Amino acid sequence: MVRYLKAVLSLGGSIVASPGINLDFIREFASLVTKLRREGYHLAIVVGGGRVAREYIEAARGLGASESFCDELGILATRMNARLVIAALGNEAYEHVPESIEEIEEWDKVIVMGGTTPGHTTDAVAAMLAARLGAELLVNATNVDGVYSDDPKKNPEAKKYERISVEELIKLVGNEHRAGVSAILDPKAVRIIKEHRIKTVVVKGELQRIEAALRGGEHRGTEIEV
Ligand code: UTP
Repeated sequence: MVRYLKAVLSLGGSIVASPGINLDFIREFASLVTKLRREGYHLAIVVGGGRVAREYIEAARGLGASESFCDELGILATRMNARLVIAALGNEAYEHVPESIEEIEEWDKVIVMGGTTPGHTTDAVAAMLAARLGAELLVNATNVDGVYSDDPKKNPEAKKYERISVEELIKLVGNEHRAGVSAILDPKAVRIIKEHRIKTVVVKGELQRIEAALRGGEHRGTEIEV
C-alpha cells in the first residue's frame, strides 16, 4: 500500500462547524493527526468556513456589500475554524495561522490555516499549499462522498465517479466563483491541481475515510487523475 507521508488536507467547514461546532469531530480528528505524525506523516490542514461563513456572507450581501467584501467575511470565519483545530492539536501544530501561502517557510509541525484572499475558497488555498510544500497528496474532505456528475442532493440520477480526469472535472465545475457558493471543488483549485499535477482524492469527511485516503487505502471517494 502507498502511504502519502506529505499531504495537505482541505477540511470542509461543513464537517468542522455546521450546523454548530462539531467538538467531537475536532477532538477525534486531532487524535488522528497526532497518531499519523508519530508514524512520520507531515500534514497541513486548510479549514473551511461552514455555516458561520455562509450566514455572514448572506447577511452582508443583503446589506449591499460587494462580493469581495463578502469573501473577506468568509475568510474570517475560516480562520476562526482553523484556530479551533489548532486548539485541539496543541503542541502538534503551529499556533500562528498563516494569512498567505508565501509566508510559509517551514513544515516541522502541522500547518493549519483558513482562507487567504477573495476570489476562491479554501479548496484553492489547499491546492496552492500542496504545490508550495511539494505534497504527495491533496485530500479534500467534504460533506459528499465524492465527485458526482451532478448535485446528488438535487438530482437522484447523478452518478458518482470512482475516478475522474482533471480535464473532465474542469468541465464539471465551470469557472465562476461566488462568495459562499460551494461546488465540489472550486474551479481555481482544479486549475492548480492540473497545472501542478497534484494527486487528489475527494472523500466524505468521516475520520475512517480521511485516514484511508492518507494511507492509500479504500476510501470510497473519487480519485482525480492528473
Ligand atoms: P470555504 O472554503 O469554507 O468555502 O470558504 P465553501 O466551499 O463555501 O464552504 P465549505 O467547503 O462548505 O466550508 C467560505 C467562503 O469564504 C470566502 C469565499 O467567499 C468562500 O465561499 N473565501 C475563503 C475567500 O474569499 N478566500 C479564501 O481563500 C477562502
